[in-house]
Amino acid sequence: MARFSDAIVEHFTHPKNVGEVPDPDAAAFVADPVCGDQVRLTARVVDGRVGEARVLAHGCAAMLGTASIVTEWIVGMRRGDLRGLDEAAVSRRVGGLAPGQSHCARLAVDVLHALAESWQRTSQGNST
Ligand code: FES
Repeated sequence: MARFSDAIVEHFTHPKNVGEVPDPDAAAFVADPVCGDQVRLTARVVDGRVGEARVLAHGCAAMLGTASIVTEWIVGMRRGDLRGLDEAAVSRRVGGLAPGQSHCARLAVDVLHALAESWQRTSQGNST
């Protein structure tokens, strides 16, 4: 049976920031074609930083816990900060992932990078 960090257990049992930011400045959706887990992440940008993030996720306990943690973690980050996140950083932040759960970190990184891309498209649209 998979073991979970205290942080993942806390966020899986009491998920934070569930839902969607209305009229978001950035939005991303990713799905793992193998396991089927899905994540939609939306964010509001305030003064060049993530001001608020909300998530809708469907999947395993590790993914749901990780998604909740991510919504708190990225508040205050700049777009470049999101792009710089990798699987190791996600795994550290959630208190570690078992080998069988490591693709949860990949999915989290994918949605964070996609959010950064969406954010860039939005800001380019606003500058024209
Ligand atoms: Fe694939 Fe959770 S089982 S990310």
